[in-house]
Amino acid sequence: MRIAVLTGAGISAESGLDTFRATDGLWERHRIEDVATPQAFARDPALVHAFYNARRARAAAAQPNPAHHALVDLARRHDLTLITQNVDDLHERASQPDVIHMHGRLSRALCADCGHRWNAPAVMSADDACPRCTAHAARPGIVWFGEMPYHMERIWDALERADLFAAIGTSGNVYPAAGFAQHAGRAGAECIELNLEDSANARDFDRRIQGPASVTVPEWVASLSG
Ligand code: APR
Ligand code: ZN
Repeated sequence: MRIAVLTGAGISAESGLDTFRATDGLWERHRIEDVATPQAFARDPALVHAFYNARRARAAAAQPNPAHHALVDLARRHDLTLITQNVDDLHERASQPDVIHMHGRLSRALCADCGHRWNAPAVMSADDACPRCTAHAARPGIVWFGEMPYHMERIWDALERADLFAAIGTSGNVYPAAGFAQHAGRAGAECIELNLEDSANARDFDRRIQGPASVTVPEWVASLSG
């Protein structure tokens, strides 16, 4: 069976990483517009790097949970396309073979001048020089609000081919990911939502499995034949 899965911050919540909207719109006590937009980086690169250095350290200290491991098992038994909005590397550390990071990764750095990408050090600073053009324009390799997500062609294709689409631990507040269920459903996929509560786009799903991801995802994966 062809399966497309989208994961959000809720799958990492049980590994101890804050979800964005559980902290009433503040992220480590910062407003989005102060730390997660290109304008914020232009205005105060040191604040943006401090914010992502803190998130990078938290992500490095976290461990994959049973939900991450269950998706590795799913990839062994089905044609799985795993798409994540998360910027941590918990799927990779659970040995997930192929992860599409549509919002980028904390472990990557990007040159704001020439677009070069490289593996980010644990602590980044605005003084870091780009290994290719030597400009002091190193930014986190994260897709910020107002920027285009990565790998969208591959994502739309997987959604259109899927027999089954599952959204795990995402609030359905941020497009284009919030439109994935509708897109997959229109192309004939059954759509399931695994979440603690109804997401903003719950009406786009055929079924909902309520509960913490580390319990519901292994049960759901086990329930799939084949
Ligand atoms: N198990 C399952 N679901 C959970 C759990 C859990 N233990 N804990 C929280 N959730 C659910 C919440 O109910 C919510 O629907 O996870 C979702 C988290 O929502 P958000 O914090 O909005 O995270 P996400 O949907 O991934 O955000 C999307 O917005 O913040 C930006 O770019 C950032 O990628 C992020 C995007
Ligand atoms: Zn450069």
